[in-house]
Amino acid sequence: MASVRLASLTKTFGQVTAVDNIDLEIDDREFFVLLGPTGAGKTTTLRLIAGLEKPDQGEVYLGNVSVNDLSPALRDVAFVFQYYTLYPHYTVRQNLEFPLRSKLRRLSESEIDAKVSEVAGVLHIESLLGRETVNLSGGEMQRVAIGRAMVRTPKVFLMDEPLSNLDAKLREEMRTELARLHLDLGFTFFYVTHDQIEAMTMGDRIAVLNEGRILQIGTPDEIYNSPENVFVAKFVGSPTINLFEASIETSTLVVGKKTLVCAIPGTQRSSLEKYTKRELILAIRPEDIEVSKEKKKADSFKCTVYFTQSMGVEDILNLRINDLVLRALVPPKLLARVGDTVYASINMKRSHLFDSETNMRL
Ligand SMILES: Nc1ncnc2c1ncn2[C@@H]1O[C@H](COP(=O)(O)OP(=O)(O)OP(=O)(O)O)[C@@H](O)[C@H]1O
Ligand SMILES: [Mg+2]
Repeated sequence: MASVRLASLTKTFGQVTAVDNIDLEIDDREFFVLLGPTGAGKTTTLRLIAGLEKPDQGEVYLGNVSVNDLSPALRDVAFVFQYYTLYPHYTVRQNLEFPLRSKLRRLSESEIDAKVSEVAGVLHIESLLGRETVNLSGGEMQRVAIGRAMVRTPKVFLMDEPLSNLDAKLREEMRTELARLHLDLGFTFFYVTHDQIEAMTMGDRIAVLNEGRILQIGTPDEIYNSPENVFVAKFVGSPTINLFEASIETSTLVVGKKTLVCAIPGTQRSSLEKYTKRELILAIRPEDIEVSKEKKKADSFKCTVYFTQSMGVEDILNLRINDLVLRALVPPKLLARVGDTVYASINMKRSHLFDSETNMRL
């Protein structure tokens, strides 16, 4: 296994800068997730690591060795593509055996059998081993593709949205399986996804990528609880974080068209005073808004339930107060219905403020 380091890595296609001066260090055995929306440059970054693209600028290191001049085969990385590439008229077993039959490996038939059975067991594809891959469903193909990468013991395991074609139930199961597999095998994982739930549940660390640039690198906890900019705050978390225009006036935070006036927690007051009169963005997670049917807290404000969505364990309420709509996450036992009057209070200690010009955290 090996660590991965990217130094000032840049790749352009004509006018498009797909990867823009990226610096990253992934530790040996780490489960590292690259998270970003479509077109962010995720696949291009993986292809640069695998050697399938040449960078315009910068270096790729595996371990401490620059691999810029090594062909993909010599880099010894396993790649699970976004669009799976299996040998269609081979059986599932033959697809899994293929990397093991390489002359470099010299494995015995019983060793190959044992490895294939082990991987097939983990991926629940034992019953498919005799089938031609051309007849498999998308989800089955994807698991075979993961299996084919897994049978080897590569330096680094590169995975490009490997679960995107699975149904929701199977995806959840595979998330756990992959994370478990990572623990057991201790591979270095570089995992690409646009799904923030995958990133949050599987990653040791996450890098958020947009337009070829890395916006933040951190643990799931850091990314979720201390987003460094508006994009990260918005991209991670479901239901989406609430964002409101705000400004600081005489030590209070004025939100919307003077709809809400919130107290700034004492510890933050002095450090925020220099932002007085600047255009700011206040961000509040839906779970940091407490809702009750009676006015329980002095700082709670009256609003109307505009829409409700049940998620089983929790309900999402859309609350309206003049020009503002707030999303709040509440226990279903609140039994709030559309049209009800309720009282909401914001946990300001858990809120975030951003400069609306730079979109950066204050
Ligand atoms: N071979 C290519 N030729 C021209 N442009 C390309 C090429 N490969 C990628 N791009 C462009 O580079 C940008 C990044 O593409 P990339 O495939 O890396 O994004 P991505 O984050 O993997 O997106 P998705 O989530 O949709 O897979 C996009 O604007 C894309 O159109
Ligand atoms: Mg992609």
